[in-house]
Amino acid sequence: MKFPIGVLVSGRGSNLEAILSHIKEGKLDAEVVAVISDREDAKALKVAENYGVDTYYIPCLEKKTVLVGEAEKKYIELFKEKGVKLIVLAGFMRIIKKDFLDAFKGRIMNIHPALLPSFKGLEGQKQALEYGAKVSGCTVHFVNEGIDVGPIILQEVVPVHDNDSVDSLSQRILMHEHEIYSKAIQLFVEGRLKVEGRRVKVLSGEVKKE
Ligand code: GAR
Repeated sequence: MKFPIGVLVSGRGSNLEAILSHIKEGKLDAEVVAVISDREDAKALKVAENYGVDTYYIPCLEKKTVLVGEAEKKYIELFKEKGVKLIVLAGFMRIIKKDFLDAFKGRIMNIHPALLPSFKGLEGQKQALEYGAKVSGCTVHFVNEGIDVGPIILQEVVPVHDNDSVDSLSQRILMHEHEIYSKAIQLFVEGRLKVEGRRVKVLSGEVKKE
Protein backbone atom coordinates (compact mmCIF):
# COMPACT_ATOMS: atom_id res chain seq x y z
CA MET A 1 0.00 0.00 0.00
CA LYS A 2 1.21 3.48 -0.81
CA PHE A 3 1.90 6.04 1.91
CA PRO A 4 -1.59 7.11 3.14
CA ILE A 5 -2.25 10.82 3.39
CA GLY A 6 -5.32 12.75 4.50
CA VAL A 7 -6.11 16.20 3.13
CA LEU A 8 -8.08 19.01 4.77
CA VAL A 9 -9.69 21.58 2.49
CA SER A 10 -12.12 24.49 2.63
CA GLY A 11 -12.15 25.91 -0.89
CA ARG A 12 -11.03 25.71 -4.49
CA GLY A 13 -8.71 22.70 -4.20
CA SER A 14 -6.02 23.58 -6.72
CA ASN A 15 -3.26 22.38 -4.38
CA LEU A 16 -5.18 19.15 -3.80
CA GLU A 17 -5.53 18.75 -7.57
CA ALA A 18 -1.79 19.25 -8.08
CA ILE A 19 -1.06 16.59 -5.44
CA LEU A 20 -3.50 14.13 -7.01
CA SER A 21 -2.14 14.75 -10.46
CA HIS A 22 1.46 14.28 -9.27
CA ILE A 23 0.42 10.98 -7.68
CA LYS A 24 -1.20 9.91 -10.95
CA GLU A 25 1.94 10.85 -12.89
CA GLY A 26 4.05 8.78 -10.48
CA LYS A 27 5.93 11.81 -9.13
CA LEU A 28 4.59 11.32 -5.61
CA ASP A 29 4.58 7.91 -3.90
CA ALA A 30 1.50 8.47 -1.80
CA GLU A 31 -2.22 7.85 -1.82
CA VAL A 32 -4.85 10.34 -0.72
CA VAL A 33 -7.12 8.11 1.37
CA ALA A 34 -9.53 10.80 2.62
CA VAL A 35 -10.36 14.43 1.94
CA ILE A 36 -12.32 16.26 4.62
CA SER A 37 -13.92 19.66 4.08
CA ASP A 38 -15.52 21.93 6.67
CA ARG A 39 -17.52 23.52 3.85
CA GLU A 40 -20.17 21.70 1.87
CA ASP A 41 -19.68 23.91 -1.19
CA ALA A 42 -15.89 23.49 -1.38
CA LYS A 43 -14.90 22.86 -5.01
CA ALA A 44 -12.08 20.74 -3.61
CA LEU A 45 -14.62 18.00 -2.83
CA LYS A 46 -15.48 17.73 -6.54
CA VAL A 47 -11.79 17.72 -7.43
CA ALA A 48 -11.23 14.75 -5.10
CA GLU A 49 -14.30 12.90 -6.39
CA ASN A 50 -13.03 13.29 -9.95
CA TYR A 51 -9.93 11.39 -8.90
CA GLY A 52 -12.02 8.72 -7.15
CA VAL A 53 -10.93 9.79 -3.67
CA ASP A 54 -13.24 9.35 -0.64
CA THR A 55 -14.58 12.73 0.48
CA TYR A 56 -16.28 13.84 3.69
CA TYR A 57 -18.05 17.05 4.55
CA ILE A 58 -17.87 17.50 8.31
CA PRO A 59 -19.05 20.91 9.50
CA CYS A 60 -17.61 22.54 12.59
CA LEU A 61 -20.47 24.47 14.08
CA GLU A 62 -18.88 25.48 17.40
CA LYS A 63 -16.49 28.07 15.98
CA LYS A 64 -15.77 29.74 12.64
CA THR A 65 -11.98 29.90 12.61
CA VAL A 66 -10.76 26.92 14.63
CA LEU A 67 -11.26 23.16 14.49
CA VAL A 68 -12.63 22.17 17.89
CA GLY A 69 -15.29 20.11 19.69
CA GLU A 70 -17.26 17.28 18.12
CA ALA A 71 -16.00 18.05 14.63
CA GLU A 72 -12.38 17.87 15.74
CA LYS A 73 -13.08 14.46 17.32
CA LYS A 74 -14.68 13.22 14.10
CA TYR A 75 -11.77 14.45 11.96
CA ILE A 76 -9.29 12.64 14.22
CA GLU A 77 -11.35 9.43 14.27
CA LEU A 78 -11.79 9.35 10.53
CA PHE A 79 -8.14 9.93 9.74
CA LYS A 80 -7.12 7.30 12.35
CA GLU A 81 -9.58 4.79 10.87
CA LYS A 82 -8.11 5.41 7.45
CA GLY A 83 -4.59 4.85 8.76
CA VAL A 84 -3.43 8.28 7.67
CA LYS A 85 0.30 8.91 8.27
CA LEU A 86 0.47 12.51 7.08
CA ILE A 87 -2.13 15.27 7.14
CA VAL A 88 -1.90 17.90 4.44
CA LEU A 89 -3.69 21.22 4.88
CA ALA A 90 -4.58 22.48 1.42
CA GLY A 91 -6.44 25.75 1.78
CA PHE A 92 -8.05 24.63 5.05
CA MET A 93 -9.11 27.88 6.67
CA ARG A 94 -9.27 26.83 10.34
CA ILE A 95 -6.64 26.80 13.01
CA ILE A 96 -5.68 23.34 14.25
CA LYS A 97 -5.73 22.96 18.03
CA LYS A 98 -4.01 20.78 20.62
CA ASP A 99 -6.02 17.52 20.43
CA PHE A 100 -5.62 17.23 16.69
CA LEU A 101 -1.94 18.24 16.87
CA ASP A 102 -1.31 15.62 19.56
CA ALA A 103 -3.12 12.93 17.55
CA PHE A 104 -0.81 13.49 14.55
CA LYS A 105 2.31 14.86 16.17
CA GLY A 106 4.92 16.01 13.65
CA ARG A 107 2.72 14.72 10.85
CA ILE A 108 0.79 17.81 9.75
CA MET A 109 1.88 20.13 6.93
CA ASN A 110 0.54 23.42 5.65
CA ILE A 111 1.23 25.63 2.67
CA HIS A 112 1.22 29.39 3.03
CA PRO A 113 1.22 31.89 0.14
CA ALA A 114 4.11 34.05 1.40
CA LEU A 115 7.70 33.70 2.54
CA LEU A 116 7.28 33.04 6.25
CA PRO A 117 7.87 34.54 8.73
CA SER A 118 6.63 37.48 6.61
CA PHE A 119 2.93 37.98 5.99
CA LYS A 120 1.40 35.34 8.24
CA GLY A 121 -2.33 34.82 8.51
CA LEU A 122 -4.94 35.58 5.90
CA GLU A 123 -4.27 36.99 2.41
CA GLY A 124 -0.49 36.66 2.45
CA GLN A 125 -0.32 37.76 -1.19
CA LYS A 126 -2.29 40.98 -0.55
CA GLN A 127 -0.17 41.73 2.51
CA ALA A 128 3.06 41.39 0.46
CA LEU A 129 1.73 43.64 -2.30
CA GLU A 130 0.48 46.32 0.08
CA TYR A 131 3.73 46.25 2.04
CA GLY A 132 5.67 46.90 -1.16
CA ALA A 133 7.75 43.72 -1.00
CA LYS A 134 9.82 43.11 -4.15
CA VAL A 135 9.77 39.37 -3.66
CA SER A 136 7.29 37.06 -2.01
CA GLY A 137 6.67 33.38 -2.48
CA CYS A 138 5.33 30.33 -0.71
CA THR A 139 6.26 28.19 2.26
CA VAL A 140 5.54 24.59 3.22
CA HIS A 141 5.87 24.12 6.97
CA PHE A 142 5.00 21.71 9.74
CA VAL A 143 2.02 22.79 11.77
CA ASN A 144 2.41 23.50 15.47
CA GLU A 145 0.31 25.35 18.05
CA GLY A 146 1.09 28.80 16.58
CA ILE A 147 -0.31 30.33 13.41
CA ASP A 148 2.02 29.90 10.42
CA VAL A 149 5.05 29.53 12.68
CA GLY A 150 5.89 25.82 12.48
CA PRO A 151 9.31 24.61 11.24
CA ILE A 152 9.85 25.49 7.58
CA ILE A 153 10.29 22.59 5.15
CA LEU A 154 10.58 24.26 1.72
CA GLN A 155 10.21 27.77 0.34
CA GLU A 156 10.13 29.24 -3.14
CA VAL A 157 10.82 32.87 -3.98
CA VAL A 158 8.49 34.60 -6.44
CA PRO A 159 9.09 38.14 -7.78
CA VAL A 160 6.53 40.88 -7.24
CA HIS A 161 6.11 43.01 -10.39
CA ASP A 162 5.27 46.73 -10.38
CA ASN A 163 2.05 46.12 -12.30
CA ASP A 164 0.91 43.16 -10.16
CA SER A 165 -2.61 42.93 -8.80
CA VAL A 166 -3.45 40.62 -5.91
CA ASP A 167 -4.80 38.20 -8.51
CA SER A 168 -1.75 38.19 -10.76
CA LEU A 169 0.64 37.79 -7.84
CA SER A 170 -1.52 35.06 -6.29
CA GLN A 171 -1.57 33.19 -9.59
CA ARG A 172 2.23 33.36 -9.94
CA ILE A 173 2.71 32.17 -6.36
CA LEU A 174 0.14 29.40 -6.81
CA MET A 175 2.09 27.84 -9.70
CA HIS A 176 5.01 27.40 -7.31
CA GLU A 177 2.77 26.19 -4.46
CA HIS A 178 1.67 23.36 -6.71
CA GLU A 179 5.26 22.23 -7.20
CA ILE A 180 6.77 22.61 -3.74
CA TYR A 181 3.89 21.02 -1.84
CA SER A 182 4.32 17.70 -3.62
CA LYS A 183 8.11 17.92 -3.24
CA ALA A 184 7.76 18.43 0.52
CA ILE A 185 5.29 15.55 0.82
CA GLN A 186 7.59 13.26 -1.16
CA LEU A 187 10.50 14.14 1.15
CA PHE A 188 8.33 13.24 4.15
CA VAL A 189 7.25 9.98 2.51
CA GLU A 190 10.90 9.09 1.94
CA GLY A 191 11.67 9.80 5.61
CA ARG A 192 14.10 12.55 4.63
CA LEU A 193 12.88 15.40 6.84
CA LYS A 194 14.69 15.76 10.14
CA VAL A 195 13.36 18.39 12.52
CA GLU A 196 15.92 19.91 14.87
CA GLY A 197 14.27 22.68 16.86
CA ARG A 198 13.10 25.23 14.31
CA ARG A 199 15.22 23.79 11.52
CA VAL A 200 14.11 21.09 9.13
CA LYS A 201 17.05 19.34 7.52
CA VAL A 202 16.60 17.51 4.24
CA LEU A 203 18.57 14.29 4.41
CA SER A 204 20.14 13.00 1.23
CA GLY A 205 19.53 9.26 1.64
CA GLU A 206 16.43 7.37 2.65
CA VAL A 207 15.93 7.08 6.41
CA LYS A 208 13.29 4.69 7.67
CA LYS A 209 10.52 6.15 9.82
CA GLU A 210 9.10 4.15 12.71
C1 GAR B 1 -3.53 28.67 -1.41
O1 GAR B 1 -3.01 29.82 -2.01
C2 GAR B 1 -2.91 28.42 -0.06
O2 GAR B 1 -1.57 28.80 0.00
C3 GAR B 1 -3.74 29.34 0.81
O3 GAR B 1 -5.05 29.18 0.34
C4 GAR B 1 -5.00 28.87 -1.05
C5 GAR B 1 -5.81 27.62 -1.27
O4 GAR B 1 -5.97 27.40 -2.64
N1 GAR B 1 -3.65 28.98 2.18
C6 GAR B 1 -3.63 29.87 3.16
O5 GAR B 1 -3.71 31.06 2.97
C7 GAR B 1 -3.49 29.28 4.55
N2 GAR B 1 -3.17 30.29 5.48
P1 GAR B 1 -6.45 26.00 -3.18
O6 GAR B 1 -7.76 25.66 -2.43
O7 GAR B 1 -6.70 26.24 -4.64
O8 GAR B 1 -5.38 25.00 -2.92
